[in-house]
Amino acid sequence: MAGANTTPPGGHAIVYDAFMWPFERAALGAWRRRLAARARGRVLEVGAGTGSQLRWYPDGAEVTALEPDPGMAARARRAAARAAVPVTVVDGVAERLPFAAASFEAAVTSFSFCTVADPAAALGELRRVLIPGGRLLMLEHVHLRWQPGRRLQSWAAPAWAAVAGGCRLDRDTVRFVREAGFSVLRERSHVLGWIVEIEARSPVGLRPPPISG
Ligand SMILES: C[S@@+](CC[C@H](N)C(=O)[O-])C[C@H]1O[C@@H](n2cnc3c(N)ncnc32)[C@H](O)[C@@H]1O
Repeated sequence: MAGANTTPPGGHAIVYDAFMWPFERAALGAWRRRLAARARGRVLEVGAGTGSQLRWYPDGAEVTALEPDPGMAARARRAAARAAVPVTVVDGVAERLPFAAASFEAAVTSFSFCTVADPAAALGELRRVLIPGGRLLMLEHVHLRWQPGRRLQSWAAPAWAAVAGGCRLDRDTVRFVREAGFSVLRERSHVLGWIVEIEARSPVGLRPPPISG
């Protein structure tokens, strides 16, 4: 299975927060807050990184934060201790979620689906662990629809992935979400469509798709 061994290389944890700080201040913090505000009940966050999203969850959320990189997870645990809601940080990859079916009311991802090795498998897993009609909330950078930019991203993607822990600039995440059977309820674009906020719902009344591998 493509996603069987997808633990990303470590080493980015030390510089990640410093790199992101100006973007968090400029706009990301507001977008994260809006995303997290829609997450209620048992929430799974996938690819929690250093825990930048954890401070924004509202009362009533009970968060399980999945993170495979030990350096990132150590920082996420510190952020979890400061969060306003209960957060448990667990090891694991999106392509093989260590949870029973229908365990969560909501799933959240932020800038992790660019790095997940097998997005189709990961979305199949998210569909499995969400309750029917569960919410999928994503804040992700994606492959532009605007052709000159899209071509530039395609060209730069391999080199960027090599230096940025496997992060792909050419991910059509919204298409993957639809292909996995989710209904996209809301899609809000920023920076000429480079960053999208997605709200989707898992299907109601259908069996989850089989997991490959
Ligand atoms: C760019 S960071 C984003 C971190 C955080 N969500 C944020 O918004 O700042 C991407 C994260 O995805 C994690 N990741 C990479 N591959 C993954 C996988 N297959 N399953 C789950 N998480 C993964 C990485 O370890 C990393 O922490």
